[in-house]
Amino acid sequence: MHHLDQVSAVHRFLEHLRNATTDLAPAVLRLPASVYTDAAHHRRERDRLWRERPVVAGLSADLPEPGSWFTADVGAVPLLVTRDADGRARAFVNGCRHRGGRIADGRGRAEGRVFRCPFHSWTYAIDGCLVAIPEAEDAFAALDRSAFGLHERSCAEHAGVILVRAVGDGPLDGADLLRGVAGDLTALGIPDYHHFETKTTEWKCNWKLALDTFLESYHVFSLHRESVHPWYFSQPMIYDGFGSNLRFPVFRRTVEKLAESPESTWELADHATLQWWVAPNALFSYTRDELFLWRFHSPRPDRCVAVTSLYTRSPATTEDATNRLEEAFALQLQVAGREDFPMQEKVQEVLGSRALPEIVFGRNEVAAIHFHRALEDLLAHDPEGDG
Ligand code: FES
Ligand SMILES: [Fe+2]
Repeated sequence: MHHLDQVSAVHRFLEHLRNATTDLAPAVLRLPASVYTDAAHHRRERDRLWRERPVVAGLSADLPEPGSWFTADVGAVPLLVTRDADGRARAFVNGCRHRGGRIADGRGRAEGRVFRCPFHSWTYAIDGCLVAIPEAEDAFAALDRSAFGLHERSCAEHAGVILVRAVGDGPLDGADLLRGVAGDLTALGIPDYHHFETKTTEWKCNWKLALDTFLESYHVFSLHRESVHPWYFSQPMIYDGFGSNLRFPVFRRTVEKLAESPESTWELADHATLQWWVAPNALFSYTRDELFLWRFHSPRPDRCVAVTSLYTRSPATTEDATNRLEEAFALQLQVAGREDFPMQEKVQEVLGSRALPEIVFGRNEVAAIHFHRALEDLLAHDPEGDG
C-alpha cells in the first residue's frame, strides 16, 4: 500500500472516530439463508467461481526456485503447481496419465526436477512432460509419449500472487483479477516474501460464513470482547471496493496517537491489520511485515476447509525468529478458531434448520455487503465473456 493511501486511510478513520460515524453501504442487504445451505447454489458456486474463473492458489514465495511445487484442490479439481526450469509458474492436473494416481501431495522441491507417481513410478518433468515408464516401456510402446504429459491448466503470476484456473486453458489476466490489490501488495514488498508455514483446518460451516467474519469488525466489541477488543476498534470501519475485490483495514487503538506525529512517519500496518479480499475466496491479512493468506472452500454447503499460510519479509533463520512466527501463527488461528468459526458453525446450524429464511447485513457492514454483491455478480456473469 502506498504511503499516501495509508495516510488517507488514517485520516478517514480518525475523521469517522471524531464524528462517531463509519463507512456505510447505500442499503442493508437481506440475504436468503439458502446461499449458505442450498446444494444447487453450492454447485453453481463450484462451477462458476472455482472452475470457470481463476482463483488465488498461492504466492510466488510458495515456488521459491525451479522445481518447487505445491498442490491445491480448486473446485474439487486436484492441481499441481510448479516452477519450471525457465522460472515460469505452471499448473497441471494432479493426476497421473497412467491410471490417475495423485502425483504429489503438499509442497516441496522435485528431486532431480522430476515427479514420480507413487503408483507405478511413471515419471514427469517439472514442465509436465512424461519422461519415463519404468519396468514397462514395451507395454506402452504403442502410446505417443509426447501426448501423455500431465494435463496443463492456465496459470499466471502477478504481483507475487499465483493464480490458476481449474478448467479450460484460456489466458489469465493477473492484473485484472488482482484489481486494486496488486499495487498494495507490491508496495508492501510481498513479491519478495518467504513462505513460513501452511496449515489446513476444517469447519462445520459454509465458506462464506468463514469469510464473513473477516469483512466486518462490528462484532469485535462483542464476540472478541475478551480477546482482541482491548487492542482493536470495533468501529468505525472504512473500506474500498475495487471491482470484485476489496480492501478492509481493522484499526488498532494505537492509531489515535498518530495524530501527534508527522504524517511522513505514519505506517498503517503498525496501527491496523490490513485485509484484502480477492474474489472469490482469498483473504490477505497483513500486520507488521507478516502476511497471512487464507483460502477457503466448501466440499459441501455446510463444510469449510481453510488453508492458512504465513509469509514473512525475511526467512526465519534463528530459533527465536521461528518461535515468534509460530506464536503469531497460533494467535491468528486461535482468534478465528476459538471465536469466529465456532460462532459460524452455530450460525450454520440455525440456517440449516430452515427456520430462519434470511439474514441481514447492516449498512455499517459495508465490506461484507460488497463481498456478497460481488459474488452475486460473478455467479450471474458468463465467464466466457469475461476475457
Ligand atoms: S497411476 Fe501413476 S504410474 Fe500408474
Ligand atoms: Fe472476528
